[in-house]
Amino acid sequence: MNATTQLVRPWYLATNKGRTACLVNVQAELLLATLPDASIDLVITSPPYCMGKEYEKSTSADDFLENHRRIFPEIVRVLKSGGSMCWQVGHHVKDGVAIPLDALVYLAAMDFPELVLRNRIVWTFGHGTHSPRRFSGRHENILWFTKGDDYTFDLDAVRIPQRYPGKRHYKGKHKGKLSGNPLGKNPGDVWDIPNVKARHVEKTKHPCQFPVALPRRLIKALTTPGAMVLDPYVGSGSSAVAALLEGRNFIGCDIKRPYLSIAKRRLKKLETGTLEVRADAPPSEPNASQSVAQLPSRWRKLRKKTSAADI
Ligand SMILES: C[S@@+](CC[C@H](N)C(=O)[O-])C[C@H]1O[C@@H](n2cnc3c(N)ncnc32)[C@H](O)[C@@H]1O
Repeated sequence: MNATTQLVRPWYLATNKGRTACLVNVQAELLLATLPDASIDLVITSPPYCMGKEYEKSTSADDFLENHRRIFPEIVRVLKSGGSMCWQVGHHVKDGVAIPLDALVYLAAMDFPELVLRNRIVWTFGHGTHSPRRFSGRHENILWFTKGDDYTFDLDAVRIPQRYPGKRHYKGKHKGKLSGNPLGKNPGDVWDIPNVKARHVEKTKHPCQFPVALPRRLIKALTTPGAMVLDPYVGSGSSAVAALLEGRNFIGCDIKRPYLSIAKRRLKKLETGTLEVRADAPPSEPNASQSVAQLPSRWRKLRKKTSAADI
């Protein structure tokens, strides 16, 4: 056993229906160093954005790129051929200047000819801070790469209902026949999934949780049951929860023990069937009869006087 392996001990092990999730309290580089070559089917993560959050010292996009240049050789090494890597990032915003972090992730990934970008998924959501001098940020991205061309993609596992399921071909040899897929349509590359803010059922004390529905959809589409999923920046354990819910195995790490404790609590609740997880369903429509959904009359008058009158 070498020194690195000794440091990297499971901090918490959860089981659910014969699958295992292992949480480790180390930095990503250390965990990766102990993983065998080609042992992971899917890496899914949201890394630190280097914006000086409570869990990061760095505040520069240069550091973000450097971190990725350091970690990607190891990510590619542990990923199986045919496996996938999904990187969820937003923007690095400082003094009103925005840098799209997925551009930097793409740059770092392109050092590896075996990584092929399949989709740049736009994750859009309704809530966030209001920016007085820019359009308020309401999306982040997920870059989905595969290692090689012979990869797993189970579209049927993630189809969504069509808006017009009764639509028929209007010309050609199939004229008059139903034109859609009976199992639903491809969800596309713009995903409207509520982000985890104060009133979300999944909200914990972690400052940047992603909703379980996000990794869950990717796990369903990009792996088969029993696969091994890795999140090197596990935070509150959303990806671990998603993996166990879908009958996949999981390994992940975080440098902050309080976050791992949140993840542990969530996994324990999952084991006892008491964890609340929001279904992968579209955001609910406002109830027009609630006063909060109605335009205050003073605002109506004000809008009439301004160019905002027609909204
Ligand atoms: C954006 S958050 C991930 C949140 C997670 N997706 C969730 O749903 O809770 C990034 C996490 O990376 C952790 N972190 C920062 N630097 C790290 C490092 N070098 N190795 C492992 N974890 C690190 C932070 O403590 C933080 O919890």
